[in-house]
Order: sequence, then structure tokens, then C-alpha cells
Amino acid sequence: MSKNNNNRLPRAKGSEMATFYTPKDCARKVKRIVFQPENRRIIKEFLTILEMKEKFILHDVPIPNKIVMFGPPGTGKTLTAFYMAQQLDIPLVLVRLDTIIHSHLGETASNVRKIFEYAKASPCVLFLDEFDAIARTRENNDEVKEMARVVNTLLQCLDEFECDSIFMAATNLQEELDHAVWRRFDTKMTYGMPDEATRSEYIRLLIGDFEKEEQTLKQASMSLKDCSFADMEQIVLKAKRKAIIESSMLTSEHIRYSFEEYKPHLIAGVIS
Ligand SMILES: Nc1ncnc2c1ncn2[C@@H]1O[C@H](COP(=O)(O)OP(=O)(O)O)[C@@H](O)[C@H]1O
Ligand SMILES: [Mg+2]
Repeated sequence: MSKNNNNRLPRAKGSEMATFYTPKDCARKVKRIVFQPENRRIIKEFLTILEMKEKFILHDVPIPNKIVMFGPPGTGKTLTAFYMAQQLDIPLVLVRLDTIIHSHLGETASNVRKIFEYAKASPCVLFLDEFDAIARTRENNDEVKEMARVVNTLLQCLDEFECDSIFMAATNLQEELDHAVWRRFDTKMTYGMPDEATRSEYIRLLIGDFEKEEQTLKQASMSLKDCSFADMEQIVLKAKRKAIIESSMLTSEHIRYSFEEYKPHLIAGVIS
């Protein structure tokens, strides 16, 4: 695991396969997070359950600890993992897929086991992005037969994941996930492009106390239709730069020009 903010990391097997973020690092990342209402509700419920652990133990009802998030890029899946770690005041362990996946698939399975062992030993949010890369459906997989072994290992690890850590996985290709893997998740969250109200909420946060023309916010939430959160962030920052260069307040023209320069739809067309 790489060092972050000079934090000493616990030495554990598999620790070199991930990046470690303290709850404080996470707090910085999630200052401007905006959830869609359904996801806000799911997360709130999840956190409430964790706060009431004893009651669940008493009733012999298992406590959820496996979340899968799916939806297009730039909609806040990774950010949600940071949010969860910050809320729970535990570190985020962001697994680097490229170091997990090995040309020898036997090695990949063993790496998967190691990262889960790590999370079992020290409470954290264990986050695996591009989860489809290791949890592909076994039937469809004609890459290498051995991939089934990776999926089997993953299933075993998920079944044995009874600890104070939370496992979170994200994918843009949920339909390619193995069904058995999919079923192991107690919590599922769909991410999508923001609607107008959500766009407006996020743009307001992005503009902050930057001086703006009266209509800017309203116009911006209309003209940034079909943009992801990540797109909106880039466009509003670009617009602010333009305003600063001109020593002017932020206007809807700045937003419009920045939108045209940034070309979010061309990018969205390629990836969706
Ligand atoms: N729901 C959101 N609320 C606030 N900012 C967001 C949201 N989604 C994305 N962003 C912005 O876009 C960036 C990329 O988002 P990310 O969480 O990595 O998306 P994903 O993992 O879904 O591809 C974030 O760092 C943040 O700046
Ligand atoms: Mg991501």
C-alpha cells in the first residue's frame, strides 16, 4: 500500500496492492458530494444499521457489509466509497486492479485472497473499482478457463467476509458480473446521470461564493443537461477560469463556452 500523508500503515499481507486513505483524507474528498435521493436513503439506512449493531446481533439478523455500485462513469461511485470511510471513521483501502490481476491467474486468485485477508484483519472500507474485471460471469468467459477460479475465490472471500470492514465494489458493466457474485451483495446502488434538481444542487456547490450573474445557476443547470457530475465539475471550473481571466463575475456565457470547449457529449457517446 502506498503511503499517504505520512501515515504508517499496518504491515499486512497484500498491503502493497492498494492505496490507503485516512478518514481525514476521505473527508477532504467528499466535501461536495451530492447523492441522488434513493442512494442517499440506502446509505443512511446502511449507516443506521451499523450504529445499531447490538440490536441486530440480538435479533440474529446479519449486518450488511457488502455494497455494489453500478452506473456510468463520473456519477460518484468512487466518491461514495470515500464518503463511507469518512462516515465510519475508518480508512479507505483502494485496491489497485492492475496489481491484483496477474498474467498467471492462479496468482490473481491468491491476490484476491490477500486483500480480503487484509480487510478482515484491520477494519477498513475495502474498495474494488472496475469490479467486472475480476467478477466476470463464468459462462461468458472464454478468455481463460482459469478465470473461473478467480471468481470462485472471490465467492469464497465474500462468504467469509464477516468482520468490521465494509466491502465496496463498483462497475460500469454490471450485466457482465457473475450472477453468484451479484447475489452475495446485500446492498446495491444504481448511479445515473443527475436530473435537473440534482444538477442545480451540485452546480450551486461548485460555484460556491464565486460572484455570479443572477441567471447563471438556473441557466447552467439547463445547459449542462446530460452531463455527469464529473463533467459538470470540469465545465464549471473552466468557466470560473474564464471569469477570473476577464476579471468578471461568472456568467451563463462562461458556462456555455466552457461546455462547448469541454465537449462532454462526445466523450459520453464513446463510453456509453
Ligand atoms: N455524486 C457526486 N457528487 C459530487 N461530485 C461528484 C459526484 N459524482 C462525481 N463527482 C465528481 O466527479 C469526480 C469523479 O467521480 P467518481 O466518484 O470517480 O465517479 P465514478 O466512480 O462513478 O466514475 C469526483 O471526484 C467528483 O469531483
Ligand atoms: Mg470510479
